[in-house]
Amino acid sequence: MTPEQRIEHYPAIEDLRQIAKRRMPHFAWEYLDSGTGLEKAVQRNRDALDKVMITPKGLKGFDKIKLNTSLFGNEYDLPFGISPVGMTGLMWPGAELMLAETARKKNIPYCLSTVGCETPESVGKIAQKNAWFQLYTFADWKINEDLLKRAADSGFSTLVITVDVPIPSMRERQRRAGLRVPPKITPQFLMEVAKRPAWALATLKHGKPAFRMLQKYASSEDMRELTKFIASQRIGGAYMWKDLIRFREIWKGPIVIKGLLDVADAKQAIEHGMDAIVVSNHGGRQFDGAPASISVLPEIADAVNGKVKILFDSGVRTGLDVLRALALGADYVFAGRPFLYGAAAMGQVGGDHVVDILKADLENNMIQLGVNDIADLRNLKILDFDQ
Ligand code: GLV
Repeated sequence: MTPEQRIEHYPAIEDLRQIAKRRMPHFAWEYLDSGTGLEKAVQRNRDALDKVMITPKGLKGFDKIKLNTSLFGNEYDLPFGISPVGMTGLMWPGAELMLAETARKKNIPYCLSTVGCETPESVGKIAQKNAWFQLYTFADWKINEDLLKRAADSGFSTLVITVDVPIPSMRERQRRAGLRVPPKITPQFLMEVAKRPAWALATLKHGKPAFRMLQKYASSEDMRELTKFIASQRIGGAYMWKDLIRFREIWKGPIVIKGLLDVADAKQAIEHGMDAIVVSNHGGRQFDGAPASISVLPEIADAVNGKVKILFDSGVRTGLDVLRALALGADYVFAGRPFLYGAAAMGQVGGDHVVDILKADLENNMIQLGVNDIADLRNLKILDFDQ
């Protein structure tokens, strides 16, 4: 199937989501698709994005649509990239390597998660200059330093420190589905795997999902030992504002703080020498009482006033969503789950197809609006947007 035929047959992320659901074992699906609590924050992200209406301008004609964007001195072909996702190899075996390939081909950033299933060494080789590295901080500084050195040596340009996971959230759907780290081989687990032969076969070929990046820091490669070790390191929750100064000294490239929703926090990030923030509620996966990320974006963009870059993620499912975030003040947009739906639905071409869907929809909606250049999206009339 050509990319054009794929767009005809599977024009939306939702098409890939439905296929992915049929191909992934239930426990992996629940990890990917769920939020936490009553999943109100997931819904809130969707509802708030849908409320952003923009008045189109008539009789503007259209020219070549300009989507390329420069960020920290890098030129990207599109204004959206691939968010870090944990346990990616459990969602679809080898998904990280596939998405890294997509990122290089399409010239967009790919952000590797600390708790993903591949190493910076393997992903860096594929994503090359498009590789970004997401860090969950460890209590032991030696590990942080070593991870950053490995990322830098592997060619990663940009560091993303996630700050909205002080501890794991409840994630009730994951628990009900019996997802344990490491996976517990129960009869239920084996039954789920047996129902998904393509996943089982791909796992046999690629190897069991594992925290490959972290294996060298624990005394054992055993997933159970590794999980205990990760818990002992208070991963994600060990650091406070003052510690960012140390990261600033260690990492030579740009640093992005991911997971802020508050104007005062955004200002603190600037004071601590950060280069960008990601306005994000972690796709509604951490705190069910959080505001929709899109609802707080305008006030944060106003307060930051161009001093640092503002990136956005949480709930992006269409090119129109990308457009909405750019119009409300984001400099760049990220999506996570859509890319995993793509990889699980279609393997290697799935990631490419997600890019094609978002790009086609973004271009089409820019033409509907009468805007040729994403730089002009900021000057639009936005209606009925209640924060
Ligand atoms: C990891 O960051 C997750 O949200 O599961």
